[in-house]
Amino acid sequence: MTQQNEQPLLKKLASRRILLGISGGIAAYKSAELVRRLQDAGADVRVVMTRAAQEFITPLTLQALSGNPVHTSLLDPEAEAAMGHIELARWADLICIAPATADVIARIRAGMADDLLTTLCLASKAPKVLAPAMNQAMWSDTHTQQNINALAQAGYQIAGPAAGSQACGDVGFGRMLEPEQIRDAIADQFGDTSLTGKHVVITAGPTREAFDPVRFISNHSSGKMGFELARAASHCGARVTLIAGPVNLPTPDRVERCDVISADDMHKASLALAPSADIFIGCAAVADYRPAQIETQKIKKSGDTLSIELVKNPDIIADVARQTPKPFCVGFAAETNELKKHATGKLTRKGLDLIIANDVSNQAIGFNSDDNAVTVYSHSDTTEFSQCSKAQLANQLIELIATHLD
Ligand code: PMT
Repeated sequence: MTQQNEQPLLKKLASRRILLGISGGIAAYKSAELVRRLQDAGADVRVVMTRAAQEFITPLTLQALSGNPVHTSLLDPEAEAAMGHIELARWADLICIAPATADVIARIRAGMADDLLTTLCLASKAPKVLAPAMNQAMWSDTHTQQNINALAQAGYQIAGPAAGSQACGDVGFGRMLEPEQIRDAIADQFGDTSLTGKHVVITAGPTREAFDPVRFISNHSSGKMGFELARAASHCGARVTLIAGPVNLPTPDRVERCDVISADDMHKASLALAPSADIFIGCAAVADYRPAQIETQKIKKSGDTLSIELVKNPDIIADVARQTPKPFCVGFAAETNELKKHATGKLTRKGLDLIIANDVSNQAIGFNSDDNAVTVYSHSDTTEFSQCSKAQLANQLIELIATHLD
């Protein structure tokens, strides 16, 4: 049974990818327990061992505990083929080295990449936690202290060491923290978990409405705003599905992506995902109309004018908001005039919970820009967000959306 005070911890570590580096110290045996503690909290753990660590505990033990192959060598073609070191560095949400010996601390501080573990530290931008473990005289030595201080300044979190009697008989600082304490230090690195357990579905980008095999009607949406929202929601622990119109953007980490072209495709994908969605965000600039007919051959140039009959597309977000159970629905309103009137009209007419109004008459924000500024209307209040990058704005909007959930 889960204890009440373990709930926040479970939320923080659930599905987090932790790379546990083990270097060669007597405390290495405690790392086996650390693997268990992290897994109990829902983390996915992979282990990297230095050559010296393998003198204290076998890779087989750690493999059996973690359920994954243990990585030991930078130059092992078989391991590289399964998951290369750069891939492993990218995989990690956090790297923890426990125990971190004086030697490994010195090598990391020096920027060395002479084995797999130090290479991963250089190659990964993930937060890093070091749990030092060594003889008390080695810990208090000026070189070690300089190395530790330099790494702390570079952003490494230093967990411990504790004081007490040591394996060598000395007494003083140098004992590795207990596995629970290291697990808690790791959990502290993961901040906002406001959307853990939620499925967020986001539409992004434009749609393309074809009228012959080579031409279509579309708009200037780049997808940037929707992709940043996907990244921000995922960062807060949500499972995120991004329904993307034709855009040229990489998929944010951990986000599932469903590529579509037309409003009709986006409508189908949205309705298929709506039953599992807790939150639906319609950031896509969906074409309101599509050509009544798609010619099978390219339309030839003829008269001075060309008329194309358009028919109305389904309103995707309004249809999602009609579902039972209904996800929390957040729309965008791209307006060039009477922002409040048009946006709140859409909030009510489409059955939404929030609407994010975008003044797209301002070229510096909105379509295809890096910045945005919006006003968010609920049925009871208004929140203004001044101009900032779409990445910053997405963080603020996701925080606001999370506060509106039950
Ligand atoms: O992609 P970027 O370049 O980063 O630009 C971001 C953006 C300007 C596209 C974005 O911030 C934005 O404002 N998106 C909504 C654009 C829009 O089409 O708004 P609208 O007022 O026409 O639509 C209102 C709401 O209904 C939107 O949530 C829209 O997704 C939705 N809609 C519209 C039509 C339709 N057939 N189905 C829909 O679901």
